Amino acid sequence: MGFILAAAGSAVGLGNIWGFPTYTARNGGAAFVIIYLVLVFLVCLPVVLLEIAIGRRTQRNPVGALKMLSPGTAWNLVGKMGVFCGIMILSFYIVIAGWVFGYFLESVTGGLERLASEGEFGRFVGSPWKNLLYMGAFMVATLAIVVGGIKGGIEKWARILMPTLLVMLFALIVYVLTREHALAGLRFYLVPDFSKLTAQVLNSALSQAFFSLSLGMGALITYGSYMSKKENILSSGFIVALVDSAIAFSAGLLIIPAIFTLGPGVEAGDLAQGPGLIFVVLPQVFMNLAGQVGYTFASFLASFFFLLICFAALTSTISLLEVPTAYVVDEKGIRRKKAALITAGIVTLVGLGSLLSNGASHFFTNFLPYPSGQWQGFMTITGDIFFETLLPVGGCLLSTFTAFIWKTGNFSKEITRGFPEYAGSKLEKWFSGIVYVVPFVTFFIFINTVLQKYFNIQLF
Ligand code: PFF
Repeated sequence: MGFILAAAGSAVGLGNIWGFPTYTARNGGAAFVIIYLVLVFLVCLPVVLLEIAIGRRTQRNPVGALKMLSPGTAWNLVGKMGVFCGIMILSFYIVIAGWVFGYFLESVTGGLERLASEGEFGRFVGSPWKNLLYMGAFMVATLAIVVGGIKGGIEKWARILMPTLLVMLFALIVYVLTREHALAGLRFYLVPDFSKLTAQVLNSALSQAFFSLSLGMGALITYGSYMSKKENILSSGFIVALVDSAIAFSAGLLIIPAIFTLGPGVEAGDLAQGPGLIFVVLPQVFMNLAGQVGYTFASFLASFFFLLICFAALTSTISLLEVPTAYVVDEKGIRRKKAALITAGIVTLVGLGSLLSNGASHFFTNFLPYPSGQWQGFMTITGDIFFETLLPVGGCLLSTFTAFIWKTGNFSKEITRGFPEYAGSKLEKWFSGIVYVVPFVTFFIFINTVLQKYFNIQLF
């Protein structure tokens, strides 16, 4: 139960509640959702299992693990890339987590109406000092937990808060779906129009799936290294993937119809440009609710909901900080407290670039031009490189490693350890076979991403 909670805590986060609805709206709705779910179970689940297996087999951080399984080769660079991705992803993730925390503070102090007002999100993210405070608070909380060890506190809270998040999510879905125009949103979300299936949809679906499952950068190698040999890797991995997808899907069920209730003129795709979607839509949902239940109660519900998202984000920032920390502790022989402090310091410094890239600083807001001619901010570029491009590369390399270097026999042996019936079963045949396919699929999508994002070339 401990492993499942920690891994699900890592998986369920802003990627589910902020990322999934945003990417769905941006990529035309239902076709994206279907491709996403297919990729999660066909491509990502095998990577979930092999990351956990590598971690448990070696009991080491991602770099140490690959060194141990393939001594004297360059494969440990894949682990190093994972550690670096962890730092870079956390650097922008924590800025967004800070926004959620800020939205919680604003709504708890009576500012819900302001949050729901036109243009407020832009003003909010453009204020550097406030956001520095929010981001700093989040970093301190993350650091305290990573230094103090994961056991006691976080697991106990996860047990209570995760189900509460689900209950609130469902209650809000029911509320939104009974509003006018919500059904048009539901149609956009659930009735696929495959003519909208472009190269970009495929790329986004794969990278979003990797991000949401915390895959491709060794987070699950790290967590797997703490897992007992008696536990069943297959069922644990499957439950994590299922819970994560269910929560992402539910968040979409709330946010996408909610966009449509804002009025017939609102275009889902337009609203989802930039990272602000949920920050624009959620306050409006709660303001709308205030008409029925009163402003105070609606503010209470909004605060509570943003607090729950904060908590989901916190269990993810912990795992993002844990990966580089475990690396520094094991490979550099530095004490845990110092290692976590150093890593958090680097992350915060890099994070300033993202913090300032939403209007506060012209330099970071218009950091580099893309081939499409558009100038992009530091935060978008960090996301494009480390989340959208490199996580699937990590998955490609780790599955290549498992298929051709570590060998599927060893992979199966590790799963069999906690699940004797696995040996010789159909499941074993399936996963041992699919591990050879995953490198090709992810490699193809990687090329596709590079062409589309950085060269503006559309393969289809
Ligand atoms: N899975 C997290 C989310 O969906 O919010 C983000 C994440 C956490 C990505 C940990 C990668 C990671 F190692």
